[in-house]
Amino acid sequence: MKILTLETTCDETAAAVVTDRLEVLGSVTASQDDLHRRFGGIVPEIASRAHLERILPVIDETLRRAGIAPGDLDAVAVANTPGLAGSLLVGLAAAKTLALCLGIPLVAVNHLQAHIYACRLASGQEVFPCVGLIVSGGHTSLYRCRGPLDFELLGATIDDAAGEAFDKVASMLGLPYPGGPSLQRAAEGGNPQAYRFPRAFLNDPKRLDFSFSGLKTAVRYAVAGPGKLDPARIALAPREKADLAASFQEAVVDCLVAKALVAVRQVGLKTLCVGGGVAANARLRQRLSEEADRERIALYVAPVWLCTDNAVMGAIAVERHRAGMHEPLDLDAFPGPIRTRATASKPVG
Ligand code: KG4
Ligand code: ZN
Repeated sequence: MKILTLETTCDETAAAVVTDRLEVLGSVTASQDDLHRRFGGIVPEIASRAHLERILPVIDETLRRAGIAPGDLDAVAVANTPGLAGSLLVGLAAAKTLALCLGIPLVAVNHLQAHIYACRLASGQEVFPCVGLIVSGGHTSLYRCRGPLDFELLGATIDDAAGEAFDKVASMLGLPYPGGPSLQRAAEGGNPQAYRFPRAFLNDPKRLDFSFSGLKTAVRYAVAGPGKLDPARIALAPREKADLAASFQEAVVDCLVAKALVAVRQVGLKTLCVGGGVAANARLRQRLSEEADRERIALYVAPVWLCTDNAVMGAIAVERHRAGMHEPLDLDAFPGPIRTRATASKPVG
């Protein structure tokens, strides 16, 4: 059985062909970084227009790499939540058209569940039930994952997502877009203790929420003070820049690791799965692995190539297809995140 999966939730146009045995026959991800770089962040209207231009060539190339024709497909899957409304609609329209023309079922993918499913896919092991930590540009949340399609929200950021904070702080430090990877590079060799930045809610051991906007402001004040001065225009010495980056990164990592461990203890599950773009961060991966060893937690972090958005993690569609969870052709896009127990097609509780 072969499923074509499409991913257009944010700024990557991606497609993959996966089998029911979770083999990846072909995969293509077209990045839009070059288009958004000059704005220092994703411009939703540019993202949706670029998806429109790229989606068909990306699908063609994916099928070519998989060595199959459209008629060989058994189903088509698409991430329909959460994400940017205009971006989601492009993937959705392409998937519905293929489902209609080929006479095959349409399967909905929840992008957040897919980020955790990347751990299942890459490890080849049963990882559920587990605690799931999703850290990306749009989300920072902890879930009790009873199964691949059954998530209960435990806590989330009350303001910025961790990836968003990485991107904005990188821009304050004059580092190139996309911010996460360049901030990680800048932090190498920096002193993570040089600045004592705030770590929200760490003194509230039961609370499973995150907050990164105060941290972001603290970096801004450290660079440029509270006035109107643009931090990106301040010439920082390389040493200072490295120390600021390392201290910021350490504060984010401290919060993510601490709250993930609290969730594991509260929920009473000894398995932790971590996915999303920020899960590619080397310092986060290192600290998670140290703490998991210490606390004897089975840790699954998505491999770096499956952390940032891709269509391979859409292999979660295999689970829904197997369960006969097919969608009508009026399936909608749901931009908002899942707040409670959710299925892919009806996400907002
Ligand atoms: O999962 P993703 O591709 O898109 C969303 O679903 O949001 O995550 C993108 C985010 C961006 O904010 C990017 O800066 C961040 O992941 N990111 C990183 C690293 N690589 C990507 N953040 C920190 N360290 C990294 N190495
Ligand atoms: Zn994502």
